Amino acid sequence: MDASEFRRRGKEMIDYVADYLENIRERQPFPDVTPGYLRNLIPDHAPEEGEKYEEVFKDIERVIMPGVTHWHSPQFHAYFPTANSYPGIVADILSDAIGCIGFTWASSPACTELEVVMMDWLGKMLNLPEQFLSSSGGPGGGVIQSTASEATLVALLSARTMFIRKHIGPGDDPHRENAVMTKFVAYCSDQAHSSVERAGLIGGVPMRMLETDSKGALRGETLQLAIQRDKAAGLIPFFVCATLGTTPSCAFDNVLEVGKYAMSFNFNPHKWLKVNFDCSAMWVKDSRLLSDAFEVDPLYLKHENQGKMPDYRHWHIPLGRRFRSLKLWFVLRLYGIKGLQESIRKDVMLAHEFEAYIKSDERFEIFGEVVMGLVCFRLKGSNELNEKLLKLINDDRRIHIVPSKVKDTYFLRLAICASRTTSQDVRLAWNVTREITNGLMSSLKQ
Ligand SMILES: Cc1ncc(COP(=O)(O)O)c(C=O)c1O
Repeated sequence: MDASEFRRRGKEMIDYVADYLENIRERQPFPDVTPGYLRNLIPDHAPEEGEKYEEVFKDIERVIMPGVTHWHSPQFHAYFPTANSYPGIVADILSDAIGCIGFTWASSPACTELEVVMMDWLGKMLNLPEQFLSSSGGPGGGVIQSTASEATLVALLSARTMFIRKHIGPGDDPHRENAVMTKFVAYCSDQAHSSVERAGLIGGVPMRMLETDSKGALRGETLQLAIQRDKAAGLIPFFVCATLGTTPSCAFDNVLEVGKYAMSFNFNPHKWLKVNFDCSAMWVKDSRLLSDAFEVDPLYLKHENQGKMPDYRHWHIPLGRRFRSLKLWFVLRLYGIKGLQESIRKDVMLAHEFEAYIKSDERFEIFGEVVMGLVCFRLKGSNELNEKLLKLINDDRRIHIVPSKVKDTYFLRLAICASRTTSQDVRLAWNVTREITNGLMSSLKQ
């Protein structure tokens, strides 16, 4: 493909993408394919000679689309949202074209410098304490990780190093490091995302999943008791991960009790902030703790301006990193803070519309509280009844949702996911739910 064909094909692809997104409502949100469907649709080896572009393009609808779960369909209500916007896509095209690997400032200065400023913009939007911002002039600042899972792991590993250093002096027997580490213990709530438990597994430390209150929140007293118990047993508590918006039910840990003095903070603009995956924003109060844990310095990565700007390779696990701050820059400038607030408020309002439908039918109950864009609901009755309802709703294929369970109560979760979702789509989701419930109830009476 030469430049003139790229111009033509690129424009065609932009048209295809715009048509896909603008007409996505017409596609079934969850596909009908069965595992292994794709292998039969394409050859089992790469072509010897290059093919014609038309042949490849044709195969998007033949091979790919039948197996796509359409996360941006207004009838997709599963998991949590993943963001998608034209400004985000356009910026990613530019990022792909620049195609730099921004591991140090010198490897592509704009890649590092835009990220530093964008993380400050975003931190100010969230009203984060000054110490998290690089503009404060201190050792704090932000970095874009790929995922929240990575951010949690990075925080845990750097806390682990900090505590090893605290307990072992420079002249100590290195074997003592392992002995000290066997005493480390970390905490999160029993509602925390599986990635937090995994960070413990990868970091080789036990992660205590502490019991939450009736609203699914971790409370200070529970944490304090666990810490006291572990200290009394000779263990070394070194890490707590609090969650604001748990995956099962969007519960908020009580951070005023648990984490008044948090050293890091992470959230995913790639979920609700119109920045396409991947863009997981992480801030730390002291980036030296990251460098302490992750710095290795081969000659080929050194440069003469070291220390004047962050070298992000010390802030995360991979060496390579894409120019992801471009999509933040485009999105923040083109929507503005007000535009982003409006879109989040619209989703929250739609969630309350669905909540009102659920509350209008006495066969149903809301599980927990509707906060943000998630509605957790169930039929009054057994878990088995609700499992049947979920299966029937998803088998029907008009909408797609996933279930969850908190303290042995099984419920259905409806998240407002796509930016194109309207009141009409919420009404459709309710009509499907009610119609299927009517059928289920009458089949049970027979
Ligand atoms: C509360 C919470 N934490 C962490 C994650 C993991 O996110 P990621 O896919 O960015 O690792 C999720 C994913 O939905 C989540 O809901």
